[in-house]
Amino acid sequence: MITLQKKPGKDFVILNLTDPQMNNAEWAEGHPHRKTIEHTLAELVRRTAPDLITVSGDLAWAGEDHSYEMLFSLLDSFGIPWAPVWGNHDNQKGAEYTDSLADRVLLRRHSIYEKGDPALGNGNYIISVEEEGRPVTALFMMDSHDREPFVNQKGETEEAWGRLNAAQIEWYSAEVEKIAAMGYCDSAMIMHIPVYAYRDASAAAYREGLNLREMTLEQSLSETVWNPGYEGSFGVQYEGVCSYSAEDGVFAAVKKAGHTRLILAGHDHINNWVIAYEGVKLAYGLKTGSGCYWRPQLSGGTVVTVSKDGISDLRHEYVDATAFHEAK
Ligand SMILES: [Fe+2]
Repeated sequence: MITLQKKPGKDFVILNLTDPQMNNAEWAEGHPHRKTIEHTLAELVRRTAPDLITVSGDLAWAGEDHSYEMLFSLLDSFGIPWAPVWGNHDNQKGAEYTDSLADRVLLRRHSIYEKGDPALGNGNYIISVEEEGRPVTALFMMDSHDREPFVNQKGETEEAWGRLNAAQIEWYSAEVEKIAAMGYCDSAMIMHIPVYAYRDASAAAYREGLNLREMTLEQSLSETVWNPGYEGSFGVQYEGVCSYSAEDGVFAAVKKAGHTRLILAGHDHINNWVIAYEGVKLAYGLKTGSGCYWRPQLSGGTVVTVSKDGISDLRHEYVDATAFHEAK
């Protein structure tokens, strides 16, 4: 477990970035993607003055070594602790390659990262926040892997998105019990691929009959789009929830533990909703930059604020980078 210190009388600020996902060529000097990521990170750090930067996966594309190095250098340049979890694209060349990325992260001066038990993947670890020796909150950083075979209802084998596997759920359950016993106020989970409960939360929260693909961010702030009980939700869903194809058991473990108040995921670049579902906030991190597919109005980062009593707020911080993408 890695422990960071919260200053008394001041919120601890976590800035989450997700899916920057650029290839080597897109890091070339002057490329719109590079200009966008550099501008976006500088703006986010300036505006939010984070104590910790987390990255919820798809840092680049497996094999794009230069791209990883460029991103790590940019992250390290702020002198702020930064901590990644791996996404499906980081994992797509296999465990050995992901482990080499982990080694590169560990070489960086301001990175904080633990590989954790290799049986669980790469990078299942806990970051804790304390204030003057008093436990405040704990972040479960988890590897949601790449894809795995899935047998559908017709008995055919198809590919499904990855998930937290049974061993990881067991690890989480044992560790969160210890964290609770140590007196931590609450905890959060950060991973790349959303857990299956995101599908349930979306179905429960958005009113029926809405055209989600057409909904604007402004409209999502209106209570009229949310079912009773979900009025505090916000954000859009421009693509389906790309979780594992069947119930993964994560949400049941989280509810049983009764300690984790927030799950934060990436992966679906053009979804950014935040829904409080059965007592747990399920959130999409706001996609960072223009790598891979994006919507210019849905780019920036997500700010999680920690008070002395634990996680107190979550909001998206939008950064306008359209100037770098105007038609020439
Ligand atoms: Fe991605």
